[in-house]
Amino acid sequence: MDALTRYLRLDQPGADPYFTLLLALVPLLIILGVVFRRSRRLPYPPGPKGLPIIGNMLMLDQMTHRGLAGLAKKYGGLLHLRMGFVHMVAVQSAEHARQVLQVKDNVFSNRPATIAITYLTYDRADMAFAHYGPFWRQMRKICVIRVFSRKRAESWRSVREEVDKMVGEVARSLGSPVNVGELVFKLTMDITYRAAFGASAKEGRDEFIGILQEFSKLFGAFNISDFIPYLGRVDPQGIQARLVKARQSLDKFIDYIIDDHMEKKRRKDATRGGDEDTDDTDMVDDLLAFYSEEAKLNSESDDLQNSIKLTKDNIKAIIMDVMFGGTETVASAIEWVLAELMRSPEDLKRVQKELADVVGIDRRVEEEDFDKLTFLRCAIKETLRLHPPIPLLLHETAEDSEISGYFIPKKTRVMINAWAIGRDPASWDDPDTFRPSRFLNENAPDFKGSNFEFIPFGSGRRSCPGMQLGLYGLEYAVANLLHCFTWELPDGMKPADMDTNDVFGLTAPRATRLVAVPTPRLLRAVY
Ligand code: HEM
Repeated sequence: MDALTRYLRLDQPGADPYFTLLLALVPLLIILGVVFRRSRRLPYPPGPKGLPIIGNMLMLDQMTHRGLAGLAKKYGGLLHLRMGFVHMVAVQSAEHARQVLQVKDNVFSNRPATIAITYLTYDRADMAFAHYGPFWRQMRKICVIRVFSRKRAESWRSVREEVDKMVGEVARSLGSPVNVGELVFKLTMDITYRAAFGASAKEGRDEFIGILQEFSKLFGAFNISDFIPYLGRVDPQGIQARLVKARQSLDKFIDYIIDDHMEKKRRKDATRGGDEDTDDTDMVDDLLAFYSEEAKLNSESDDLQNSIKLTKDNIKAIIMDVMFGGTETVASAIEWVLAELMRSPEDLKRVQKELADVVGIDRRVEEEDFDKLTFLRCAIKETLRLHPPIPLLLHETAEDSEISGYFIPKKTRVMINAWAIGRDPASWDDPDTFRPSRFLNENAPDFKGSNFEFIPFGSGRRSCPGMQLGLYGLEYAVANLLHCFTWELPDGMKPADMDTNDVFGLTAPRATRLVAVPTPRLLRAVY
């Protein structure tokens, strides 16, 4: 007791014993608070035990939609893993998806970004990788109005004209095997490229595909520095040099296109005395309207235009969002619909009969027919259930949170497994079977975002802004390919022999490309 009195200096003349005692208690209370909070903190969701420092890094090969779905069988619909210093949570049931995408969406709406993604998106200057917040909100508004809106008639026209070209190409290959996978990837690439840069930019297309492919590889590359940040300076895999080279190629390519568009606009303005441009514009033109100082001055009353000023980096990053968001997703969906229907001849027959009844064999399918093509739409939905083009939706928590009594720390990478959720036996009968007729039931879930057992386009704040355009391309292409041609498997292959595996990346296309032989179904004059 003497020692304590001396330590607290209560024996000093003039010492206020209460004040001194209080001073001594403060640190003690803080320590007790921390200890108490730790012991009171909720547990992490269940998951396999990791090793010190590296955590579950040895399970890297299971970080796919199929691998995680396998782990869900053991650990349930909410799974915790730790990769190095990064917490990861997989969400694999409809109810947990609702918690994350609706109930607590304000906490779960950030995006995780690797070192590669941050660098290649000009430090998240785009919409898809921007964190949830005012910048993302403004970017999304601009994109919804300028890039994805149905009013951008040019994008919708690109779909129709490029599908027409594709039908012509198939009509020239009648009776021979056609690589449908490559055909539809080229189709969606051409649609998006044209919608973004305009019909006249065709020459650079192949160079641009090369740039996109390197971006895609870098996006997907495993970089140990993402999980153990101290290794960032060492860069043991030499990724930094590849990133710099890839972004320089993109800069060179798009800077030229942007400058060319600006020059054209200047020339048009000069000849028309600044009259409003009535020609069709591409996405670069539309985004440039926000970029140009002049547009800003001319529309000072418009709050949205004044609240954010796009830079060239924003334009480049948004264009990349559109290229990545709109190309492989739609292509893989078209290929899967055709493949699933070819594996299920009765359903294929029914779709084609519906097309013949609604459209007839003397003309091509038009947009006005879509509402009457009920079974075709069911087949598309059933394909999106079994093969959501983006199988894992990637989100990140903005702060500490709690789901179903489990602790989810700030900055956790959240993987919402749309693939596993669409095949969950708790929500779907006979979940692995392709059965379009299940969507004929008027109570069947829809993909608009309020039925969490079916979320191919996500749900809530970060859901897909390109859904309408994507669905339009998907319906237009599938309806035309199935209405115009009968498709047979090559070399006597049986439907049951078809491969149903996928490859995991940003999207999950078929592991082997669909190859099929077309023959005509319509009157000759229609092709
Ligand atoms: C069948 C076609 C498509 C499917 C299945 C699809 C699916 C998705 C999904 C699942 C997400 C993420 C949702 C989330 O994280 O919660 C997403 C986001 C996004 N999609 Fe799509 N998409 C399609 C077509 C398109 C098209 C055609 C475009 C552009 C032209 C596009 C642009 C985007 C963008 C920019 C985002 C990011 C939105 C944000 O982070 O705020 N998508 N899409």
